[in-house]
Amino acid sequence: MALPKRFLSLLVCLFASLPLSCLHVHGSDELKAFIVHVKRPENLSFSVAEQWAGWYSSLLSLASLEANATDFARSRVIHSYRHVATGFSALLTEREVEAMSKLGWFLHAGSVPFHSDPVALAGFEAINRGVFVSCSAGNSGPDPYTVTNTAPWLLTVGASTMDRSFLGTVKLGDGQEWEGASLYPPRNFDAKMLPLVYAAGDVAASHCLNDSLNGVDVRGKIVLCDRGDNSRLEKAEVVKSAGGAGVILVNTPEDAYSTVADPLVLPASNVPYVVGLKIKAYINSTSAPEASLVFNGTVMHTPHSPSMASFSSRGPSQITPGILKPDITGPGVSILAAWTMQKFNMISGTSMSCPHLSGIAALIRKANPDWSPAAIKSAIMTTAYVTDNSRGPILDERHLPADFFAIGAGHVNPPKAIDPGLVYDLTPQDYIPYLCGLYESYLVEVIVGRPVDCSSPKSIREGELNYPSISLTLPANNLKSVRYRRTVTNVGEPTSTYRVKLDVPQEVSATVTPTRLSFDELNQKQSFSISFRRNGGGSGAVQGQLLWVSTKHVVRSPISIRLE
Ligand SMILES: *[C@@H]1O[C@H](CO)[C@@H](O)[C@H](O)[C@H]1NC(C)=O
Ligand SMILES: *[C@@H]1O[C@H](CO)[C@@H](O)[C@H](O)[C@H]1NC(C)=O
Ligand SMILES: *[C@@H]1O[C@H](CO)[C@@H](O)[C@H](O)[C@H]1NC(C)=O
Ligand SMILES: *[C@@H]1O[C@H](CO)[C@@H](O)[C@H](O)[C@H]1NC(C)=O
Ligand SMILES: *[C@@H]1O[C@H](CO)[C@@H](O)[C@H](O)[C@H]1NC(C)=O
Repeated sequence: MALPKRFLSLLVCLFASLPLSCLHVHGSDELKAFIVHVKRPENLSFSVAEQWAGWYSSLLSLASLEANATDFARSRVIHSYRHVATGFSALLTEREVEAMSKLGWFLHAGSVPFHSDPVALAGFEAINRGVFVSCSAGNSGPDPYTVTNTAPWLLTVGASTMDRSFLGTVKLGDGQEWEGASLYPPRNFDAKMLPLVYAAGDVAASHCLNDSLNGVDVRGKIVLCDRGDNSRLEKAEVVKSAGGAGVILVNTPEDAYSTVADPLVLPASNVPYVVGLKIKAYINSTSAPEASLVFNGTVMHTPHSPSMASFSSRGPSQITPGILKPDITGPGVSILAAWTMQKFNMISGTSMSCPHLSGIAALIRKANPDWSPAAIKSAIMTTAYVTDNSRGPILDERHLPADFFAIGAGHVNPPKAIDPGLVYDLTPQDYIPYLCGLYESYLVEVIVGRPVDCSSPKSIREGELNYPSISLTLPANNLKSVRYRRTVTNVGEPTSTYRVKLDVPQEVSATVTPTRLSFDELNQKQSFSISFRRNGGGSGAVQGQLLWVSTKHVVRSPISIRLE
């Protein structure tokens, strides 16, 4: 169906949804999303989707071992396909798939990891219609392999801080002062010294879990609560219901320096892990520890901004390690957001950075109405910045330089993204050889929504997709080079020349051919190849960058290399 042009500028932001693992039980009884391909009966001519869904449910119920088979099938089918593939996707156990495989209508079943929250499939349908899709990277950081929504047609967005913070200072009885994150206190809050209490050694009470403070006298006191195990909001509620007057929330070692200002039910300050150690040492050093909470309010020009939030999910992508994910980071900590209960709320998460990127994509599309979703994404990624307001590298929650698995191409830079010079463009069809490299034809058909023969548009390796970043693995004992080809489209000055600049770590040699790209008209395409070879030993992840530089533009692609 052809949509009127003005609808094509719709922009979508999809949030991280609950992982399916929430539904899981263990072993072969674990529920996974499967795509089941079935024989299409010749005499069947259902015209409406519900009839197909009903038929699939009746087939599925034949494989059910449960009492109410119809009920069972209805609760498990996720989506019914009828245009291209004949089949359905459903949550099934391996045992159920095994039982199904013995039935006459069964052809194949396979699991498509991309299919695990329907975001990737809906996203493909969207980009097919020219709709740009921005997605949350997830809030499961800082461990590696936590990034979600990693299909290459989606923009995967991490979360970082801004140079505006909400500051709450913790003053200790001995004169020490430590900064934390805090929203304004209730009106007429008195910042006087109060007794300070910490239930060291009691795991539940030190984390301020439900009902854990019954044996601790916290009435009228400021309570130190370690983060983790329950929500920050719940900790404050637990302290309040036990009669406490304020809360100091201390980061876990993993959260390190990454603090958030939340609307809590009590005056509070969230302090870094190292500050927590200082406060605990002070509590140890005196028989009557005291503290007060002082609210500085909104403070601008916070040093080391932006920096990555600890919760922002990290790459590499488990599903598609040949595509560097996340793609980009944007503002996602302590964001003033519209809310359902009260009108506004202060929220932190990649669900906050993702709509920032949708908005920026809308501005880019307004300035460049003909650009494809892939061109917009390329513009956002190749113009991102990687230094903070202290002119050093963007830092992570540990105050160490954030790697590409945290920031992707860097922090979005909206004015630059409107005029990137060159873009790495992709049409929806270009993803098919990539998908054929990962899945069998019938699964690819389900993703792209049309018949696909993976033997004719032959499959490519993930890294060969014309993506604005580069991710590759160089195995040990293999000194052969890995070579990728990329094509750039001139969207800058009609006549322009770009020279290559390549920074790669010493473990790797890389060559780009040609080293100069000249354009004499708009939308002209030029291709180049880039090859990598390892220089001897070493293992782990290393990173570099590829720059195409003209007098007006710098088109930057991050390069992530895993040495095995
Ligand atoms: C289609 O044919 C099969 C086998 O011949 C039969 O069992 C089934 O009832 C038919 N279905 C419809 C909808 O006519
Ligand atoms: C089975 O489930 C269906 C659909 O929910 C319901 O209408 C029917 O009453 C159930 N049958 C039995 C025997 O529980
Ligand atoms: C803690 O108590 C609150 C309020 O009673 C309740 O909503 C919440 O579910 C409880 N949390 C846990 C982990 O039991
Ligand atoms: C405080 O004292 C306790 C018990 O003596 C000890 O386990 C803990 O490490 C001390 N904490 C700090 C931060 O010094
Ligand atoms: C915050 O308030 C405290 C207490 O009044 C003050 O010592 C500190 O300098 C203030 N910090 C900033 C950044 O304004």
